[in-house]
Amino acid sequence: MARPPALLEARGIRKSFGHVEALRGADFEVHDGEVVALMGDNGAGKSTLVKTLSGVLTPDAGEIWFAGERVSLTSAQDARRRGIETVYQDLALADTLDPPANLFLGRELVRKGLWGRLGFLNHGAMRAQASEAFDRLGVTVRAEHGAVGSLSGGQRQGVAVCRAVMWASRVVFMDEPTAALGVTQTRNVLELIDRVRSSGVAVVLISHSVPEVLAVADRIEVMRLGRRVARLQAADATTESVVAAITGAETEDLLDEQGTVDGGQR
Ligand SMILES: Nc1ncnc2c1ncn2[C@@H]1O[C@H](COP(=O)(O)OP(=O)(O)OP(=O)(O)O)[C@@H](O)[C@H]1O
Ligand SMILES: [Mg+2]
Repeated sequence: MARPPALLEARGIRKSFGHVEALRGADFEVHDGEVVALMGDNGAGKSTLVKTLSGVLTPDAGEIWFAGERVSLTSAQDARRRGIETVYQDLALADTLDPPANLFLGRELVRKGLWGRLGFLNHGAMRAQASEAFDRLGVTVRAEHGAVGSLSGGQRQGVAVCRAVMWASRVVFMDEPTAALGVTQTRNVLELIDRVRSSGVAVVLISHSVPEVLAVADRIEVMRLGRRVARLQAADATTESVVAAITGAETEDLLDEQGTVDGGQR
């Protein structure tokens, strides 16, 4: 099948933790401006795959391709420099800092000091930009709320999503971004995903919610036991077909239909 090259692609990724094989030849791809849902039961390897694609974990084997070239992502910073941002499942926030400081963590705005030498953190500018970003997402947190560690789970999740979207220029991974969110905040995140897609940035959404995925995704990739086992166009998918792919009822048929080569041998 003639497809344009993927923006970001995993080929045959393997990753073990001790004797647990989390990824056993996992494949994955996401194209420019596409929303791909990554689904699969608990322990299927979704978070581990995302961590290898965002520079946090080094794969034991396999290839990562980004914008047409093979890359090795050496760190999360390396991935970020390439425009890849991630909302981790554990959120990875700095609990002792306030919400704006979390948004600018590692990318603080600095004001030139005397002689243009000494740098001062530009708290005013960071707060203003942060509150604009929070407004856009409908996140109701502000600097005055103090340390992020004392926020509710949903507010923390809002801060993490905001931070990723604010800095992503090519692709943003969201590992269960709506898991702790209320109805309104969930709707905000889904609308935000739509907006991110319109801006040309790709979104990889990990979610266990089939309705949420069918509402927002263009494609669905399903993992089981550390491998990709199905790829579906969201427009053609039904709740039943997605559930069947996740539980394994129809895997072989789906793979044949999609022409997918299992196990990353290409
Ligand atoms: N740091 C780690 N050390 C040891 N084992 C790990 C580690 N991270 C993941 N694993 C194991 O790898 C497998 C895949 O885990 P992973 O977190 O990728 O699954 P997941 O698909 O994200 O599941 P969930 O839907 O529950 O978030 C699991 O068996 C898990 O126990
Ligand atoms: Mg996970």
